[in-house]
Amino acid sequence: MASRSLPETPAGSRVPTILYVRPSPVEPRSAVPDLAPRRFHRRLPGYTPTPLRRAPEAERRLGVARLWVKDESQRLGLPAFKMLGASWALYRALCDRLGHEPEPWDDVAGLARAVAPLQPLTLVCATDGNHGRAVARLARWLGFGARIYVPENTVAARIESIEGEGASVEVVQGTYDDAVARSGEEDGEPGVLVISDTAWPGYQEIPRRVVEGYSTIFDEIHEELRRLDEDEPDVVVVQMGVGAFAASVVQWYLAPARPAVRIVGVEPDRAACVLGSLLAGDRIEIEGGQDSIMAGLNCGTPSLVAWPLVHDGLAASVAIDDERAREAMRLLAADGMESGESGAAGLGGLLELNENHAVESDELGIGPDARVLVFSTEGPTDPAVWTDVVGRPPHDIG
Ligand SMILES: Cc1ncc(COP(=O)(O)O)c(C=O)c1O
Repeated sequence: MASRSLPETPAGSRVPTILYVRPSPVEPRSAVPDLAPRRFHRRLPGYTPTPLRRAPEAERRLGVARLWVKDESQRLGLPAFKMLGASWALYRALCDRLGHEPEPWDDVAGLARAVAPLQPLTLVCATDGNHGRAVARLARWLGFGARIYVPENTVAARIESIEGEGASVEVVQGTYDDAVARSGEEDGEPGVLVISDTAWPGYQEIPRRVVEGYSTIFDEIHEELRRLDEDEPDVVVVQMGVGAFAASVVQWYLAPARPAVRIVGVEPDRAACVLGSLLAGDRIEIEGGQDSIMAGLNCGTPSLVAWPLVHDGLAASVAIDDERAREAMRLLAADGMESGESGAAGLGGLLELNENHAVESDELGIGPDARVLVFSTEGPTDPAVWTDVVGRPPHDIG
């Protein structure tokens, strides 16, 4: 795969150098996803739909009719949305190993009994925080071991929360992509099951299930908007690391039976691998340290299974600097939400479009009639940074 560097953000400037708006309208293409993941998630401990909130301060600031924030700061007992993808992917992988669905089971204790014949088993993955903690929690629930690889710049708070689930954490010298490569070396080893949210040649089934697993979020949104007698969004803004979550957004919102929406992807300017790939016209690995404060988005290569979906489905893609993420964290806090650096990045992308890209915002229909949806994909997963940025400690540090 080609490796390229992207244009630098000029030192001291808050204006990103890079923004991609699709030349032609996006056609609906994907199949309507089924609801099996949500039926599965309902049986996990603590399942409850997360809140869909209006953000009046942000609405005023952006001048849009509605700004909905799907608040994933508490999901299945963890402070991020990632459990949805990890749990469904693991479940399907266990079914494949057993050769059948382990029905009937009502709760994780029942599921643990049903998958006991697969013991001893160690779950392995790479992470920059949230996915690894989810995999570690799943291992604890089901009585498996867990070995989680993290890049060298991972902050202590995130490592400790993964270790707190009983997993062993190994720090890999290098970037998130290096940690992914290390975890991939274990794929196929006896007694090991790699649960990666990113895909590479020869390893695609589990990451495809991760993308499916996130559909629970959109089904909940759909249900809540119907209950409130509100219309579906016409613009959806989603933050991207390897692009698996954005691929899930595309799969849901561009399904033929649903009203068309414009989907906008947002990445840190120092880890804009999807944007770089869109500009290059091919999936590429970008050069550089991927050292943004948006830790969950510090990825150098789009997922192989996400790439075709985000390539075809994104109407636009924007890169933001760390200060934009901080600004979005403060704005969400003003609207009563506690969102981490990666969690607030979607709103950060909207602020960036609003302030520096009026023509493109217009083209995307982000105006006074717009119904916009963003995702706060995590809570304050690094409480010290959140306190520093917002000026008070978070209420619930997850
Ligand atoms: C909080 C948060 N938001 C968004 C993302 C991006 O998801 P993806 O890597 O599927 O693009 C991540 C990934 O780890 C994350 O932790």
